[in-house]
Amino acid sequence: MTEPIGVLFVCLGNICRSPLAEGVFRHVVAENGLAARFLIDSAGTGGWHIGSQPDRRSIDVAARHGIDLTGLAARKLQKADFGRFSVILGMDDDNVLNIRAVAAGPAHIAQFHAYATGQPREIDDPYYGGPDGFETAYQIIRSGSGSLMERLLEKAGSIKG
Ligand code: 4NP
Repeated sequence: MTEPIGVLFVCLGNICRSPLAEGVFRHVVAENGLAARFLIDSAGTGGWHIGSQPDRRSIDVAARHGIDLTGLAARKLQKADFGRFSVILGMDDDNVLNIRAVAAGPAHIAQFHAYATGQPREIDDPYYGGPDGFETAYQIIRSGSGSLMERLLEKAGSIKG
């Protein structure tokens, strides 16, 4: 069996954007019958929320789109992640800098939207804003997830599975 393609989504707190990306990307690969091809997780560069469920506003926006985030728990990015995951994707440019600052292994580090689509676009931190920021984050993640899946499969050498 082919080794799963490891992709880790990273933001600051691992309670707003990256758990949303984890849930949406899991959903998209499952819709395509490809769940077994991927190892998918999320983490934060900060440790304030370790063990917490995603922010209620992320849970709500995902639920409105048929995706359940309630089983997720925040964790902090670890040095071992740079060996476990092929690709580590920050949601904004600060996340990418923070990931690079602790990088300790072969993982490819990039901004989510730039890697997925070829077009850089930051997913702004929605934590201190209103619910619109969460819907915007969802839409950007959702629109990039299909091309992210295809790009990762292409890089792994097969688009058939
Ligand atoms: P996230 O949002 O990085 O998308 O999870 C944040 C959540 C919490 C904090 C910052 C950003 N915080 O400072 O506690």
